[in-house]
Amino acid sequence: MQEALQQLRAEALARIEGAATLDALDAARAAYVGRSGAVKGLMQRMAEVPADQRKATGQLANEVKTAIEGALAVRRAAIERAQAPVAGPRVDITEPGTRPRLGHEHPVRRTEMELREIFARLGFECVEGPEVELEYYNFDALNIPSDHPAHDSFATFYVGGDVLLRSHTSPVQVRVMEQRRPPLRVVVPGRVYRPDTADATHSPVFHQIEGLAVGEDVTFADLKAVLTLAMRELFGPKTETRFRPSFFPFTEPSAEVDVCCELWGERRWLEILGAGMVHPKVFEAVGYDPERYTGFAFGMGIERIAMLKHGIRDIRLLLENDVRFLEQF
Ligand code: DAH
Repeated sequence: MQEALQQLRAEALARIEGAATLDALDAARAAYVGRSGAVKGLMQRMAEVPADQRKATGQLANEVKTAIEGALAVRRAAIERAQAPVAGPRVDITEPGTRPRLGHEHPVRRTEMELREIFARLGFECVEGPEVELEYYNFDALNIPSDHPAHDSFATFYVGGDVLLRSHTSPVQVRVMEQRRPPLRVVVPGRVYRPDTADATHSPVFHQIEGLAVGEDVTFADLKAVLTLAMRELFGPKTETRFRPSFFPFTEPSAEVDVCCELWGERRWLEILGAGMVHPKVFEAVGYDPERYTGFAFGMGIERIAMLKHGIRDIRLLLENDVRFLEQF
């Protein structure tokens, strides 16, 4: 009898240890320690046990029962722990997710980057200059005397004395030439300021990109080639350019450049930039020998190009920064 009880304990503990579910555990409980379980079955045969062994057998039977019940409790706790839901908010992983709102570069910035890339391929290095500028660089060194008619439309916001917000990126031409010797090829993107009231085509603040190439035999033909190639990159391979005589104090001769491109369903000529051969007076201001060096320069408005490329008819849209407008690009 005692042997049978030992064997029963070993068998029961192994079965309980192997039970994977609460149902399996309940079945084991019924089989061993239930009302008609195996332990009880053995106890009912106590009469067969010799009288001198009954006490010890009864004690062992109780021990076996307690051991089995203990094992059942331990196993139940383990199974329940394994089945318990993970703490924290429940996530339905089958639900469609929330798409993160991705922004992108502003169309003016994109146009600037496109221009920088085009001119980089043509050998132009990109440099920058200060937005708060000295009158000397904004006017004098560029051969714009204070009584010149162009002075008025360029007289922007004076910070004090002879310091003002630059009205164009051209002063950076002078700053670059003061620092370096030819040959050089640079483009200068940046923000500029004008004493203009905002309307569909004007803004008191906008962006320009300036170009400058100086060397020993740089000619107007080089200027035409560079700008024609650049405009084809920008507006498509069939784009034609037209150079009209113009005037800028810092170039001689000077030209205004139009491009002919498909716009809003029809081909038309659009004025796009100012350009010319660097004026000898500008070379003298930076200590270059105008007999030895020649150069060309150009400048264009970045907003204007972005407007042409995207069919935007009001420059203010590009500066108000309403996301509902900007996200269309
Ligand atoms: N600085 C001129 C402007 O703001 C644009 C310009 C014209 C730049 C001719 C140039 C140039 O470099 O050669 O209107």
